[in-house]
This record gives sequence, structure tokens and C-alpha cells, in this order.
Amino acid sequence: MPPLRPFKARSNMPTRAALSHIPGPPTPPLIGHTLKIARDSYGTQQDYIKRYGPVYKTKMLGVWRVNLCGPDALQHVLLDKDKIFSSTGGWDALRRIYPGGLILQDFDKHRQDRRILTAAFRASAIRDYRMRMGEIMLDLLQHWPKDAPFDFYEAIKDLTLRMGGAVFMGLPLDGDLAKQINRAITDEIRASVTPIRTAIPFTPMWRGIRGRDFLRETFRKMIPERRARGGDDFFSQMCMAKDEDGKGWSEDEILNHFNLLIMAAHDTTATSLTVIMAALGTHGDWQQRLIDEVDGLGDGDLDEEALGQMKETDKVFREALRLVPPVPFIPRMATRDFHWHGYDIPAGTSLALNPGVTMLSPELFSNPTQFDPDRFAPDRAEDRIHRFAWTPFGGGAHKCIGMHFATMQVKLFIATLLRQRRIELPGGAPEWHRMPIPKPKGGLPVLLPAR
Ligand code: HEM
Repeated sequence: MPPLRPFKARSNMPTRAALSHIPGPPTPPLIGHTLKIARDSYGTQQDYIKRYGPVYKTKMLGVWRVNLCGPDALQHVLLDKDKIFSSTGGWDALRRIYPGGLILQDFDKHRQDRRILTAAFRASAIRDYRMRMGEIMLDLLQHWPKDAPFDFYEAIKDLTLRMGGAVFMGLPLDGDLAKQINRAITDEIRASVTPIRTAIPFTPMWRGIRGRDFLRETFRKMIPERRARGGDDFFSQMCMAKDEDGKGWSEDEILNHFNLLIMAAHDTTATSLTVIMAALGTHGDWQQRLIDEVDGLGDGDLDEEALGQMKETDKVFREALRLVPPVPFIPRMATRDFHWHGYDIPAGTSLALNPGVTMLSPELFSNPTQFDPDRFAPDRAEDRIHRFAWTPFGGGAHKCIGMHFATMQVKLFIATLLRQRRIELPGGAPEWHRMPIPKPKGGLPVLLPAR
């Protein structure tokens, strides 16, 4: 094993000279490849892979990055058998807003904290969240118009945020505090993707830091009461969670983990529901299949058993995540020198993995740009061709802890909606911005008439 070279994010990053043996496109001065990748991240990556192979370097926002492409790289880096690849270093850009969050932890400390957080995701807790979420969704959906188009992307972000207030924090849906919290969460998310990292007044980073401080203050005040009385929301569960040795978290640890959890849950779910709505609006046959599936459940509770029967919806969700994954890149940083695909890569190198482009590879998926959820049917099982062919939730130690929660939420939403409404897209299928967070260009106008 190569010697351990301590690294510090940013200050110890290799220079262009240290990476001169790694192929890559010519580099425009100052901006590097930032604009090109921001404009068309998938097309640019696909072009670079064709020209330079699965290992190439780019310069984004002043940082040299080595891109390790394809399912083998995802497997090697995410499974990380030799504990080389740091998530803390990779997600460094999130550190100001989400210090100490789970994704910003590595190795032993990460394992310990993940074990504690897992308690908030145990089956009985998920059952409580589901019951609460089912009622709230039904209530919120009543307010969506039946005879006038509206932007689904904005509406679903609002719905998931408001539902998050109740399910994540145990707060009333429309109180003033819930509104302030939602604004602060939105400011934090904007700050986490802004290219201007300095908190100049009134910029997204400045607002994000104010949002962070407001949330920490607000949640800190809630901890003693939640510790005393408990509750069936995520925050209360985290206040009470302990590992098997009975160890819980300090106040700061609760705040750190909770803040990141809200962010990790929010845009991801809203994006995948938007992709699903766009797909069902353009593929009437699939919309009908899901309506038949939902009708087949009867009018009873959407409990675990009912959601478990939604196999067609499951395939549609998987296909949506393949076509427009909410997390198309996964960053890491090498803590030691390592060797990959014939190249020596020095400690301190920023690495980018690309599940987004990998999931569009014709070597893994047939007609990869087509919406074809049956590729996940047991007789085709295209995702099984490689253990890391389908990776919208990542893999290894940091694999999404909310995967089952997200699946439950998506099925609950689809069943609740399709029991009452049909989906039409007055403006047709949207185009997608892929960076920094996937979103439909111009929103997603929908019409949801009663069935
Ligand atoms: C469709 C929805 C979602 C997608 C596509 C998604 C995707 C991901 C991915 C790719 C990672 C791994 C990142 C890495 O390895 O660097 C991740 C981690 C994480 N996700 Fe999700 N996520 C989703 C929903 C959720 C939800 C609903 C929650 C919480 C309720 C959540 C909480 C987390 C947390 C806390 C982590 C960090 C895990 C760790 O570092 O151990 N996610 N997610």
C-alpha cells in the first residue's frame, strides 16, 4: 500500500504539472473547462471519454480534477477497500453550509455516525413517516388546480418542503416558523451550488450562511424538548437515536447531521418526481399502466403491503433515476497516491465519478436515451450487467441512507395523485439542465384534470 500522505482539502491539491501525464482537452486560460461543462455537461463528458479514454483531467472553478469514468471506476472508488478515497475532501464545497454532515465524514467516524443515523431509518420509524406523509400529501394535493396548468417543478418543491416540515421536524404545515425554515433551507441549497464561494453581502453564499445560522439556532432550541418527549418525526428520532452501545449525539452533532439530511432529501426527491411526471405525460401507455396498477390496490390505506405491490411504478422510478439522476456526479479526494487504469494519481487529487453518463452508456443499457422502464423487468434486468451499472444512489459506505425512504415517498405520491388525476403536459416534454442540480429548462407546465 502506498505511504499515507496527509492532505488538506484545496491547499494540498496537485498542480497541472503533477497531473501532466493524465490526458485531457486543451485548457482555456482562467475559466478552464467550467463554461463548456456547465453548458452541456453530459455531451462534453461523452466527447472527452471518446477522445481521451475513461481517465482524463479537466479544470473546473480553478480546481484540477481527474475524471474516472465507467462502472469499474464507480465500484473501485465507492467500495474503497483500501480507505483511500475521502468524501470529506470530495464534498469540500459543502463544508461551509453543512459542516460535520454525514457525507462530510470519512472512514471510522463516518461508520460510527452512520450507525446512529440508521436508527432514524429503521422500519418502524419509516412506517410512522409514511402514515404522516400519506395524510399530508392528500391534503396538499387538494390545493393543486384541476383545470389550469401550473409549474409542477415549483409546486413539488413547495410540497416536499412543506411535507418535510411536518415529517422531518414535526412542525405544523403552514405556520410562520415552517415558512421561515423553508426559506432558510432553500437559501442553504442555493449556497451549496453557487460558484462564488465568498460570502459577499446579498450573494447566495451570504444568504446560505444566514440560513444555516438561523436553522441551527431554531433547531438547537428544540432539542431539549424533543429529547424529553420524543416524537415520530426525523428530528425527534435523531435527538433520541443511539448506537448499540447506547451512545447518542451531542447537540452540535444532531444539528450537523439534521441540516445535511434535509438538503440531501429535498431536491433529489423533487427532481425525480418531476422526471416521472414528464415521462408519464409523454408516454400515455405507461401512465395507463400505472393507473391500472394504482386502481388494482383498491381504496384502502397505502400501507407497506400496498406500496410493495407497485412494481410498475418501481420500474418507472428506476428509469427516471437512470435518465436524469439527481446526483449525476460523485466527488472524492485521494488521500494517498494510487494507480488506476495505467495511471499514477497523486494524493490530494480531486476525483469525479460520473454515474450520470455511465447510466447512459450503450455498453450497459440498450437504446440508453429511450424511456423504457421494462429494461428493469426480471427477464431483461439490464441493470444487473454490472454491479455498478445503475448507481443513482451511489454505493459503498456512503450509499444513500434515504433510498428506501425516497422510494416510499415516490410511490406514495404517485398512488395518491393517480387515484384522483390524470397527467397532461401542455408544453410537451422538457429539456434538462444537468448542472449543478438537474432541473427542467423553463419548469414543467402540467395540467392535472380529475380522472
Ligand atoms: C431520489 C432521491 C435520492 C437520490 C437520487 C439520492 C442520491 C444519493 C447519493 C448518490 C448519495 C451518495 C453520495 C456520495 O457517495 O458521495 C446519497 C447520500 C445520502 N443521501 Fe440520498 N438521495 C436521495 C434521497 C435521499 C433522502 C430522501 C434522504 C433522507 C431522508 C437522503 C439522505 C442521504 C444522506 C444522509 C446521504 C449521505 C450518506 C453517507 O454519507 O453515508 N437521500 N444520496
